[in-house]
Amino acid sequence: MVAETLILRINPLKPERDLVRVAAAILKEGGLVAFPTETVYGLGAVASRRDAVLRIFRVKGRPPDNPLILHLASPDWLPSVSREIPEVAYRLAERLWPGPLTLILHRSESVLDEVTAGLPKVAVRVPAHPVALSLIEEVGEPVAAPSANKSGRPSPTRAEHVLEDFKGEIEAVIDSGDTLHGVESTIVDVTQSPPVLLRPGALPVEDIERVAGVKLVIPPFARGLGEADRALAPGTRYRHYAPRAEMVVVELEDYSELSRLARVVREIALSKKASGLRVGVLCSDETASFYEGVGVVRSLGPRSNMFIVARNLFAALRDLDREGVDFIVAEGFEERGLGLTVMNRLRKAAGFKVIRG
Ligand code: TXA
Ligand code: MG
Repeated sequence: MVAETLILRINPLKPERDLVRVAAAILKEGGLVAFPTETVYGLGAVASRRDAVLRIFRVKGRPPDNPLILHLASPDWLPSVSREIPEVAYRLAERLWPGPLTLILHRSESVLDEVTAGLPKVAVRVPAHPVALSLIEEVGEPVAAPSANKSGRPSPTRAEHVLEDFKGEIEAVIDSGDTLHGVESTIVDVTQSPPVLLRPGALPVEDIERVAGVKLVIPPFARGLGEADRALAPGTRYRHYAPRAEMVVVELEDYSELSRLARVVREIALSKKASGLRVGVLCSDETASFYEGVGVVRSLGPRSNMFIVARNLFAALRDLDREGVDFIVAEGFEERGLGLTVMNRLRKAAGFKVIRG
């Protein structure tokens, strides 16, 4: 427990050197600092400090079998944390780093067991955010960081979300405004051939496949289809990204039938309202007007721009919590491009409760 959490406001485009140094010094002393990345805010600790890494698990309430991602300042650091690096990893790193892609590789001896949760493999990425990069550079070694939310809560896309979960429990948070993507990195296990998608994320699978030159294996759990026990990324086993309210997702075979989707969502929302619940609706710009009078309506954006929809998702879930809704009905989205990522997060937030419209 720390008395007060220091808030450092750092310009995301031109990070102030002196402020970055303050944050780096706290990390080097074994403290925890939440920092922005291009995906979501991370809760950082120097990866070689066992005490600090263990504290991440404690303050997050994270199960000890759920490993952390190592954040590097440059792909040149790869050989210090991993070995037997396959050619495809170099190709992806060269073209897509810095960026929202996490690679699973064989770990080297130097990586702490606590970071990988005892697994023989390690997760690594180079974040595309000037503040994150200069912070890691200033620290001079890998920074271990999960998303900066209490275990099971929606990931934080602004500093205010981090403070909601950790005020008084961590040494500092860097506030650089809203993150760009608003969803976490895409995780690919490149120790297997063909590579396996462990978590869809901010980088569309199709982009990765184009650079890798192969199709990724996409197991059902990566789509958020509750095969919980078989999930290979331990963190994907649990109910996740979850608002406090109960939630269902309404899905269609064919999303050209939007009026049908809206009818089903509206019916469910109205029946919950009739039973006395305060209802929230997560929808798209195209259908938002159908839900007038049913409760708290939040559009994630236009279906034609899934970047916006993904970017707004976690903040909308937190927002509905703040509005005090008891039940959330969410529209489904087509599972293409970032739609795969959005559906993974929605299904998990709903604890896999899906209704076919
Ligand atoms: O965008 C992101 O990836 C953000 C920012 C902060 O970088 N980080 C993030 O970390 O989302 P976290 O801890 O919330 O999610 C990391 C996921 C977990 O599901 C974890 O199980 C998985 O990565 N993971 C980590 N190391 C792994 C490993 N060695 N093998 C398989 N999965 C691993
Ligand atoms: Mg997380």
